[in-house]
Amino acid sequence: MLKRSKISKKLLIIFAALVLIGLAEMTVIAFRLSDHNSNSQKNTSGKSTSNSDAGTTFNKSKYSINDPNSIWVVVNKGRVLPAGYVPPDLVTPNVPLRTKTSDPEMHLRNEAARALESLFSTASTESINFRLASGYRSYTEQVSIYASEVKSNGQAGADRESARPGHSEHQTGLAADLEPSTRLCEVEPCFANTPEGKWLMANAYKSGFIIRYQEGKENLTGYKYEPWHIRYVGADLAVEIQKNGQTLEQFFGLAAATGYTAQSYQLSAGT
Ligand code: DAL
Ligand code: ZN
Repeated sequence: MLKRSKISKKLLIIFAALVLIGLAEMTVIAFRLSDHNSNSQKNTSGKSTSNSDAGTTFNKSKYSINDPNSIWVVVNKGRVLPAGYVPPDLVTPNVPLRTKTSDPEMHLRNEAARALESLFSTASTESINFRLASGYRSYTEQVSIYASEVKSNGQAGADRESARPGHSEHQTGLAADLEPSTRLCEVEPCFANTPEGKWLMANAYKSGFIIRYQEGKENLTGYKYEPWHIRYVGADLAVEIQKNGQTLEQFFGLAAATGYTAQSYQLSAGT
């Protein structure tokens, strides 16, 4: 009798211990879940972030979209660069060029240049060979490009394919127009159907570039499809945009950039 009561006392103690351990584990799990939820609502600067498939978060405010020196700067018909803006670290990428090394149009910001070298090198291992057709373009260079487009196509036509001065991503030193080394379909819509165009569409993001003016998105970007125009944004953002198929404006929750208005948002250094 005494023995049996000792056994049931022991069982009671073991049962109580198991209940306590279970409760402790549930508390730890609940704490972790609440910590995860609060982190997914904010980042270090308190701004919103997006959830990715992997259950991790993408910090949309890691870099500025308003500072011309930021690799995430968004330039479009409604967002203008200062006329005197010149990127701080222009270099000539070590890739085949359309013109001479000293031509400013063959320059890019250092980070974009290194990424372009990597893109060219990966492409060449798959027998895909590009040339850089146009990189950095100064404000004054864009003045003459836009004027010549207006002369050939009229203003409405020009505005569908050429940015007005101050509104071109080329002025950031982060955009590049590529062409096949054969020059086939040079800056022409048929570039999309060349092996180079197809490769670029499928692989640019791996080196940190996006196809900025996508097919069927003129109502969002303000420009006709430009399969040759790539924009450096860094690998993290390029992967994210490739995954969800949004335009840069959509991704950052900005208004569609379909037309010029009397007042553009002024991009400025340090903002
Ligand atoms: N063709 C693009 C839109 C530019 O002029 O920057
Ligand atoms: Zn371009």
